[in-house]
Amino acid sequence: MVPLLLVCLFGLGWTAQLPTPRRDAEYPPPKTLAFLRPFGVLCVKETGVSPSAIKRFSDEDAFEDDRGLKCYMDCMFRLTNVTDDRGELHMGKLLDHVPHEFEDIALRMGVRCTRPKGKDVCERAFWFHRCWKQSDPVHYYLV
Ligand SMILES: *[C@@H]1O[C@H](CO)[C@@H](O)[C@H](O)[C@H]1NC(C)=O
Repeated sequence: MVPLLLVCLFGLGWTAQLPTPRRDAEYPPPKTLAFLRPFGVLCVKETGVSPSAIKRFSDEDAFEDDRGLKCYMDCMFRLTNVTDDRGELHMGKLLDHVPHEFEDIALRMGVRCTRPKGKDVCERAFWFHRCWKQSDPVHYYLV
């Protein structure tokens, strides 16, 4: 019974693997990457997150419980001015940063991710990122 259950769980885990994220010359949009990178450098310094943890979350089937990574996500929101006066993500401001041709993708990715849970801004920033990644693992990326 137990081995059978394990086989089933393993089988499910294997077939439920993330599809390959889209990474090519047009996507993620080079202009957005260039805009975000300098803030990424500052936010790595501020939070001490390891660049490999950012990369894993971006490109792999990884949802690590990493305080530095969560606060990095909040730091990026803050430095790119997509937060409101309470420090919470403001979706309209975020969409201002999305190139026109990718607005549909961004809207679809975010449509079910509107009620963040978490005890502080880092937890809630992470909630958004995890929700986006789960809703569209192909187009989600983290810089
Ligand atoms: C964010 O807002 C601050 C203060 O208004 C401004 O100095 C800074 O240039 C803005 N940064 C971005 C990325 O828009």
